[in-house]
Amino acid sequence: MSKKVKFVDEAKINQKKVLLRVDFNVTLNPDYTIADDFRIRQSLPTIKYLLGKKNRLILISHLDRPKGRDPKYSLKPVAKDLQNYLSDYKVLLTDKLSPENPILKNQKEDEIVFLENIRFWKEEKENDPEFAQKLASLGEVFVNDAFGVCHRENASVVGIPKFLPSFGGLLLKKEIETIKKAIEKPKHPFVAIIGGAKISTKIALIDRLLEIADYLLIGGGLANTFLCAQGINTGKSYCEIDKVEIARKILFKAAKSKTAIILPEDVVVGDPENSENGGKVLKVEEIEKKENGAILDIGPETQAKFASIIAKAKTIIWNGPVGYIENPAFRRGTDFIYYCITENTDAISIVGGGDTLAAISKKEYLDKITHISTGGGAMLEFIERGTLPGIEALKAS
Ligand code: 3PG
Repeated sequence: MSKKVKFVDEAKINQKKVLLRVDFNVTLNPDYTIADDFRIRQSLPTIKYLLGKKNRLILISHLDRPKGRDPKYSLKPVAKDLQNYLSDYKVLLTDKLSPENPILKNQKEDEIVFLENIRFWKEEKENDPEFAQKLASLGEVFVNDAFGVCHRENASVVGIPKFLPSFGGLLLKKEIETIKKAIEKPKHPFVAIIGGAKISTKIALIDRLLEIADYLLIGGGLANTFLCAQGINTGKSYCEIDKVEIARKILFKAAKSKTAIILPEDVVVGDPENSENGGKVLKVEEIEKKENGAILDIGPETQAKFASIIAKAKTIIWNGPVGYIENPAFRRGTDFIYYCITENTDAISIVGGGDTLAAISKKEYLDKITHISTGGGAMLEFIERGTLPGIEALKAS
């Protein structure tokens, strides 16, 4: 059993039928067009590399979390988008997972077969070994380029490598190498900015960051739970009451560690659906139960404090918006954090998570960020544990 993942550029994969797992779980607009195809673009180097070696590709991806077959979750728009990037090839979408399927059986050199949303089959999530074997029978080699789903023990992620010679793709390689480098031997000061709604999904991450980061800047809904843990009345703001005790323990742990947790000192309070007056800036102690609104962003003093810490950082990790970015009136804090990160070109900066990408993907200066991860939950788990089931499956292959 090899202990290292072998990547496609370290192997000789020529003229083979390659099953390529990608994570094209993109956000769709209401008219089923793609809102942002970042994840698709990020796997193009692997796709082009393998095509350049005259391999025939059979792509596997999921889209969202359908309960069984549902045309709403078809990969049709994704196949169309991919086709635009690969004009010398024909992208053929199929929902028949049999080697006898003529599309698979007679696949020509200039054809890329794309299997329909793999979550249409419940066996995918159940990691059914027979299903994994059936998928494996469609190809000769397996390549996993789907970093974003490597934390899921799904058949197309951890099952297939049991049946085929398996390799990592170029995106997987980039994700693993960049994130590992940043967290294993970080340059200090190491600053992590953690936002988003829930503390419950980030407890393990915060625990891990308390071992390695110098500063933990906390914003978004999860900051409210910390504020409640400090006895601050957050009024009508989102707060996970049942997690207040955990937040208190995290603050205690931080007090004993070398990591400083920095919480908002002032916030923007308003109505999430109404942006007319842009909300009201209040010190956190000033929020009262009668306050007719909720915390929706960090305030200017907090922005300035976060900025002064980010400016001196040598390693930066950012996951999660610090405000209610769906309403432009409450995304100033998140926009400012983005600005501060892109201005600090001395630091290694890693940004990830679906919401964070949604907040920045259409911005300028994206190239000033060292690494924009395609992983949401996967990036967090990778930071927590240093590996993921999908990566381990490749090592065992
Ligand atoms: C993601 O968007 O984080 C990945 O594609 C995994 O999707 P999932 O959370 O639905 O498993």
